[in-house]
Amino acid sequence: MSIKIAVMTMKGGQAKTTLAINLASRIAKARREVLLIDSDIQANVTTTFKRDHHCNLANVILGRVSNFEFIELERHLSFFPSGGEAMVEASSYLSQTRFKDALFKNLLSSINHKIVIIDTAPSWSDVSRNILMYVDYVIVPVVTDYLGFSGCDQIMSYIDEFKESKLGQCKAEVLGIAITRSQPRTNLSQTITEGLRERWSNLLFKRVIEESVSIQEAPAFQQNIFDYRKGRTRGAEMYDQLCREIMRRIIQRQKDSL
Ligand SMILES: Nc1ncnc2c1ncn2[C@@H]1O[C@H](COP(=O)(O)OP(=O)(O)OP(=O)(O)O)[C@@H](O)[C@H]1O
Ligand SMILES: [Mg+2]
Repeated sequence: MSIKIAVMTMKGGQAKTTLAINLASRIAKARREVLLIDSDIQANVTTTFKRDHHCNLANVILGRVSNFEFIELERHLSFFPSGGEAMVEASSYLSQTRFKDALFKNLLSSINHKIVIIDTAPSWSDVSRNILMYVDYVIVPVVTDYLGFSGCDQIMSYIDEFKESKLGQCKAEVLGIAITRSQPRTNLSQTITEGLRERWSNLLFKRVIEESVSIQEAPAFQQNIFDYRKGRTRGAEMYDQLCREIMRRIIQRQKDSL
């Protein structure tokens, strides 16, 4: 059985894609079979790795392909592209279908990678709701500025409201909140970090990802942070610690649920 994780927040630019790519790569380096799914019309994972395929999420939702074919990015890491603009049509199809609650989940039910990680769009739509009905966990990334905090607050409320509304069967739990871009020397960043700690003490991951040139550069070289400059960067060190913390928390949650 797969463990499915969405990296999600409605706010743009919170490093969803950066976290999804690096988490998937780090888990693959631990020799677990990982599938990275892009569900964003912007198709930023495709842009990063310059790899695309007709067999993509949009075409699966629209019934244009029946068998899954994945792109192998590296050993143990497969990738399933979004289809870019075709996600607009796929999204409206998901909104119209009578069986929308189960559709996405059913379509992806034959995926059996150990871990599935979904990069999401900066929006709240039927695609987001379908993803929430498919995944086990959500990781919320946040940049330590005022709008980042407010975006975090928003998505946490939306997830809670969606679960309470019982509009669809949603068992997704927030696994944690990850600070993905912090400037620890500024007062604003410190204040927002403190606010996040006070508000979500149990959920906030301890390892904070600071602003880093290597994290920004790696996608320009079609690389994850662990391969970029052979992983000898501060960015790789910080992401390694965050990913380990995330993996430990997944194991703990799995144990707790037994
Ligand atoms: N710690 C960091 N230090 C410096 N730059 C970073 C860091 N994390 C992410 N970035 C850069 O910030 C930008 C936004 O990151 P990313 O694309 O991952 O965000 P996103 O939440 O996926 O955005 P969108 O909402 O558009 O999908 C990218 O240029 C990325 O390289
Ligand atoms: Mg993105």
